[in-house]
Amino acid sequence: MATQPQGQGKDTSTKIYFRFQPTLDIILSAMKKHPGQRVVADFHGGSGFNDEAQCIGSPLIELAALADQPWPANLMVFEIDPDRRKLLTARLAGLQSDLGASHVTWRVEPDHTDITVLSAWADGIPRRLLRGVTLLDPNGAIHQSTLRSAVYLAGRPGWAKVDSLIHYSATSLKRNRGVARGTTDKAPLFTEWADSSASAWMAQIGKEYWWITKPSDQGQRTFLFGTNWNKFPGLVRYGFQPVRSPIGADWLAEAEDVRAVLPPGVHQGRFEL
Ligand SMILES: C[S@@+](CC[C@H](N)C(=O)[O-])C[C@H]1O[C@@H](n2cnc3c(N)ncnc32)[C@H](O)[C@@H]1O
Repeated sequence: MATQPQGQGKDTSTKIYFRFQPTLDIILSAMKKHPGQRVVADFHGGSGFNDEAQCIGSPLIELAALADQPWPANLMVFEIDPDRRKLLTARLAGLQSDLGASHVTWRVEPDHTDITVLSAWADGIPRRLLRGVTLLDPNGAIHQSTLRSAVYLAGRPGWAKVDSLIHYSATSLKRNRGVARGTTDKAPLFTEWADSSASAWMAQIGKEYWWITKPSDQGQRTFLFGTNWNKFPGLVRYGFQPVRSPIGADWLAEAEDVRAVLPPGVHQGRFEL
């Protein structure tokens, strides 16, 4: 069976190279000098490489960033599509062998909504001095069950220092609204989707401090970063502002404006399920 498009478009390379990679780098580098266990949970893994944009995907960036630290690390990647999962597993194995990163333990699992898998994995990770990040990179709206899993991890005892990074795309949400209007056969699933506003996602995940990047012109893509660390270093330098600041509040309003007209030329890929 052919691998389905991941719903990623022309600005994916921008997302990965100019946003995601430095964002993950500052998050994990900020933790680098703190001894302890590292953990990364990537809920939307993809195949590890985007053929269209010719760039590596989030799980490979995560593995490389964890390999760069001397601390024991656990990486959990979820990918529901079997073909992508197979490619991703091979790519992670190849990268780990290239990097010689035996201190990073990683797994690829099919479905992040399976709390049994999530809890068994999290139970096996020492809680003491645990730091890390959970990544949500849906292509638009997220399901209630996805949010439930993110809230579950954020609320685990000992996981307060595991931050949350969300890639939020209003353009993809607009595509999803076509689904809501019943213009595709996926319409019934819309009722299972969580409230599509970034504010609702942030409120439910419940970190104390939320930061935001300026939404890109193309696609209104933005990153939201939630942490309980009030002086998280380096974020402003990499384009983040607190959502409670005047600039941050403006960016959030822009990012959440799903009524805005879709810019010409924005890729109209398939939405993610
Ligand atoms: C936008 S892509 C992720 C891209 C990836 N983060 C990267 O940087 O290349 C979203 C992915 O999430 C996967 N997905 C959707 N629902 C899922 C679920 N419940 N469990 C695991 N993966 C899921 C899709 O199959 C798709 O490959």
